[in-house]
Amino acid sequence: MQFNSLEYAQEQDKKDSLSHFRTKFHFPKGSEGTELIYLCGNSLGLQPKNVKDYLQEELDDWSKYGVEGHTEGKHPWLPYHEFLTEKMAKIVGAKPLEVVIMNTLTSNLHLMMISFYNPTKERYKIVIESDAFPSDKYAVESQLKFHDINPKDGLIEWKPRAGENLCRLEDLEEILKKEGDKIALLMIGSTNYYTGQSFPLKKITELGHKYGCKVGFDLAHGAGNILPNLHDSGADFAVWCTYKYLNSGPGSLGGCFVHERYANNRELKRFSGWWGHNKKTRFQMRDDFDVIPGAEGWQLSNPPILSMAAIRASLDIFDEAGMENLRAKSVKLTVYLEKLLKEISTSRISIITPENPEERGAQLSIQVKNADKRLFDKLTESGVISDWREPDVIRIAPAPLYNNFEDVFRFTQKLKAILEEE
Ligand SMILES: Cc1ncc(COP(=O)(O)O)c(C=O)c1O
Repeated sequence: MQFNSLEYAQEQDKKDSLSHFRTKFHFPKGSEGTELIYLCGNSLGLQPKNVKDYLQEELDDWSKYGVEGHTEGKHPWLPYHEFLTEKMAKIVGAKPLEVVIMNTLTSNLHLMMISFYNPTKERYKIVIESDAFPSDKYAVESQLKFHDINPKDGLIEWKPRAGENLCRLEDLEEILKKEGDKIALLMIGSTNYYTGQSFPLKKITELGHKYGCKVGFDLAHGAGNILPNLHDSGADFAVWCTYKYLNSGPGSLGGCFVHERYANNRELKRFSGWWGHNKKTRFQMRDDFDVIPGAEGWQLSNPPILSMAAIRASLDIFDEAGMENLRAKSVKLTVYLEKLLKEISTSRISIITPENPEERGAQLSIQVKNADKRLFDKLTESGVISDWREPDVIRIAPAPLYNNFEDVFRFTQKLKAILEEE
């Protein structure tokens, strides 16, 4: 059977032991009521059907108990974030002590930099990838300015070489060889939002630590996608969001990892709030700040339960599917997508994401010659939800929980037809 046929794609779906998870999600529909081909889980994950019940449970407890829901609810609100920790920790390869769900990604990044970016006169620079997500860059620049450091001096960009799209590890090594003793922090996206390139977290951490730098990662595009093995990577900290591959709804809360070696470190500088205070004495209200050991100690506020309920709904599905199984399926889906894209004979598009599955997650970034967004608009009109990133990239991400080989096949057929028409 030809791999570039609908029958082949459907055959792969039949063999897929995770295929039934697709039915647990709502797919957006077009004007004629047919399901759209949704390949945009790297931007906003689809709504799990169980979310309504999880939210309803909290709404019911709120109406039934009022404030007493903090202790009397089926899932009491006081420790609610704890119901998420173990499953979230499994997804990012961390110990529960190292993980907390709180705030949002950029806020957590700032909190982490307050603790892990402590510049001195000699060591004050921060390294990021040149195509880092703008919010990361703004956060890093503002931290530099907060410490009266001019970003022109303090910010080092790890860039692809001229004519290339991807960052090379040896170039990061070169930066560290040259300026390692001036670098305080490496802050890298585990999986780049634009190119889809995934970096080797453990190698980068070891490299950074060898030169005395702290190392943190943004897992916005990594959590629920790759297997970051955060604990073993040795990273000092990591932050992520839960609305992309983790399907917990627009603007939902973020995750934060602080390595176990800091769990009982009371010397670390931090911005604190009452939710980071010893749970036993939190409500005595008059005690000095007594930090909770581990990542929970960085919490500031009592969290939004409705948002957490949606995360709990999604994590239960992840736990049932298993992150290793999902990653194994994801590799196959993306390889299939790549194979079909390579079949399209045109010089107008090229894939900039690395070919090696270990250096990427679900996403392939398709670069369009001469930045022609019309191609993307036509794709959208044809019933494909993907996304366009300026200046010239269409990002396609088959999410293994709800996408299948047929989606990938149908998408490439549509793209092919559009390109042939032009
Ligand atoms: C890589 C990356 N970093 C940071 C952010 C910003 O996240 P938030 O708005 O949750 O702070 C995003 C959002 O898409 C992202 O993709």
